[in-house]
Amino acid sequence: MSTALPHGVAGIHALPADHHDGPWDSVIIDPRVKERLLATAVLVLRHGRRLAGSPVAPHGLVVLAGPPGTGKTTLAQGLAQAAARTLAPHGATTLVEVDPHAFPSEMLGESQRAVSRLFRETLPELAARRPHTLVLVDEVEALAVRRHAASFDTNPVDVHRATDAVLSGLDSLRAQRPGTLLVVTTNFAEAVDEAFLSRADLVVHTELPDESVVPLIVADSLRGLAAQWPELAALAEDTAVHQRVGKLLTGLDGRRIRKTVHGALALRLETAREPALLSVDDLVAAAEEAATARP
Ligand SMILES: Nc1ncnc2c1ncn2[C@@H]1O[C@H](COP(=O)(O)OP(=O)(O)OP(=O)(O)O)[C@@H](O)[C@H]1O
Ligand SMILES: [Mg+2]
Repeated sequence: MSTALPHGVAGIHALPADHHDGPWDSVIIDPRVKERLLATAVLVLRHGRRLAGSPVAPHGLVVLAGPPGTGKTTLAQGLAQAAARTLAPHGATTLVEVDPHAFPSEMLGESQRAVSRLFRETLPELAARRPHTLVLVDEVEALAVRRHAASFDTNPVDVHRATDAVLSGLDSLRAQRPGTLLVVTTNFAEAVDEAFLSRADLVVHTELPDESVVPLIVADSLRGLAAQWPELAALAEDTAVHQRVGKLLTGLDGRRIRKTVHGALALRLETAREPALLSVDDLVAAAEEAATARP
């Protein structure tokens, strides 16, 4: 465990690591999308250096864009572990988590310098440590604000400079350490600079789960509970219940769906004390409540 992390870095992890298993499988989306994500990551991480300089060289940028609670952060973290597992025979992978809020735009000039230092010094140094490096920038809109949308009246000039710093930083990282993959998430794709988006090797738009996926998320959440309370195994395998609850929850995001299942434990003191007593009625009541609270 490193104690002092470089400025702007929220975490550094050596992968693959068993405790990073889980996120990749927990997000239920079209398997073809997951395959594209994994393939893009593996190509950049494994062959980015060899492709460098060629006209088809990847930029090393993957963008996950979509509404809140649709699994972007979970997928990005899962992708790091899934890619690290795939690449393990060729060496370990470093996952670097950037904290986009570490660059306050009100400090004129300072955030631009800090972002620039991150991409030109900190990340290249970190990327030299292991054969593969994946950098995760969660909520990139905090960092790369679309330049023409950010008006000079309402946004400090420094915001524009920070965006420029990210763009040139990205190019510099790619030149210094080809094969480094930057994965960024945003729930506001409109706010992210076009020049940034146009550099992406892959843009994945995450969406609200449709009516076929909602029951699967309900089931997966119940299986998670059954792992702790084996008495709930029957409920976790009862597809008719998942369908019934899922119908009520269709239209909500994945986070709300999982929270509703867990929230069903807290409708009654009895189930809060002893989750093994969770009933179909509890689940339906929680789902009905979530459905009426729907925006
Ligand atoms: N399609 C899905 N299948 C299964 N679980 C999902 C799905 N979408 C979201 N979840 C669950 O919802 C929770 C929140 O997901 P996550 O934090 O990754 O969303 P996000 O898109 O990053 O949201 P935000 O934009 O608010 O940061 C996680 O527990 C995740 O597993
Ligand atoms: Mg997120």
